[in-house]
Amino acid sequence: MFDPGQVRSALARRASSEDIVVPRWERPDWFATLPLAGLEEDQVWREYVVDRLPKMSQDATTIANYAFTEMLNNAIDHSGADEVAIGLWSGAFEVRFETRDWGAGALPHVQERLGLEDLYDALGELVKGKTTTDPSRHTGEGIFFTSKAVDVFTLESGGLRWTVDNLRDDQAVGGSEITHGTRVRWEIDPAGTRTLSEVFHAYYTDDDYRFDRTKTVVHLFGIGVRFISRSEAKRLMRGLERFREVELDFTGVEDVGQGFVDEVFRVWPRDHPETVLTPTGMNGPVEFMVRRGLPTPSPGDRRID
Ligand SMILES: Nc1ncnc2c1ncn2[C@@H]1O[C@H](COP(=O)(O)OP(=O)(O)OP(=O)(O)O)[C@@H](O)[C@H]1O
Ligand SMILES: [Mg+2]
Repeated sequence: MFDPGQVRSALARRASSEDIVVPRWERPDWFATLPLAGLEEDQVWREYVVDRLPKMSQDATTIANYAFTEMLNNAIDHSGADEVAIGLWSGAFEVRFETRDWGAGALPHVQERLGLEDLYDALGELVKGKTTTDPSRHTGEGIFFTSKAVDVFTLESGGLRWTVDNLRDDQAVGGSEITHGTRVRWEIDPAGTRTLSEVFHAYYTDDDYRFDRTKTVVHLFGIGVRFISRSEAKRLMRGLERFREVELDFTGVEDVGQGFVDEVFRVWPRDHPETVLTPTGMNGPVEFMVRRGLPTPSPGDRRID
């Protein structure tokens, strides 16, 4: 039987008062703290989770299985923590999961291992995808695809919260009380019809089925709605040459400066001719600046739009 008092005291023991959760996330239907040594994510799914799920469509079950095992694998392989806490909210209309560890923290870990300037840079790299600190054993797909496969995904670490809301097609960054370790929460409609393979295929290039396409949300890369400088552009574009096709989503960006536009649309494509950039979601002033800044195509040039 689930005992809310036990859960609260476990949370309090593990994470002290920093972890006061919003009421919606307060009382899991199932909760366990498991030692990470020797833990296997698919075994946890089979042993503890499957029988506690409500009636779910096959498509939703496949996504839940993928998301759960990927996020638990991250705690196992990357956190360096001793234990992981797992919570499950199993409603007829909504299934929610939480994975919490008190290890390195996804954002500080990526920042440190990849030598990035700050946590926002680390978040930017996770948003792009194919970001891994362990390239010999991992490909950097887990967070990218999980965040796009579930309905709403949040990853918190280093005092930041990254939310990917696929119901509203929106992403946001805000503050979080999680300063130590990582907390990932996500939810899915048990009757959902989105398939995992359609999520993969949206980012796999058709000819070789490789994760070669990404969509980057520009407004996550700065503070505010204006992107003026060349250095902001460099932060946005860093590493995007690892993809063959890149969609730059300008939704929510109100203004861009000449230096930014020149770097993104002239300098970077000149240095990385193998990657095709597609800007989307531009408003009037942004579109004006981008079109003005684009190099005039000569016959035979590849178009950027
Ligand atoms: N719980 C965690 N604790 C510490 N670092 C984490 C945690 N979760 C993710 N990370 C960091 O984020 C990076 C990206 O995670 P992601 O799951 O997207 O890719 P990956 O695990 O490296 O590769 P793949 O998921 O394809 O096996 C990891 O390489 C790791 O550095
Ligand atoms: Mg992973």
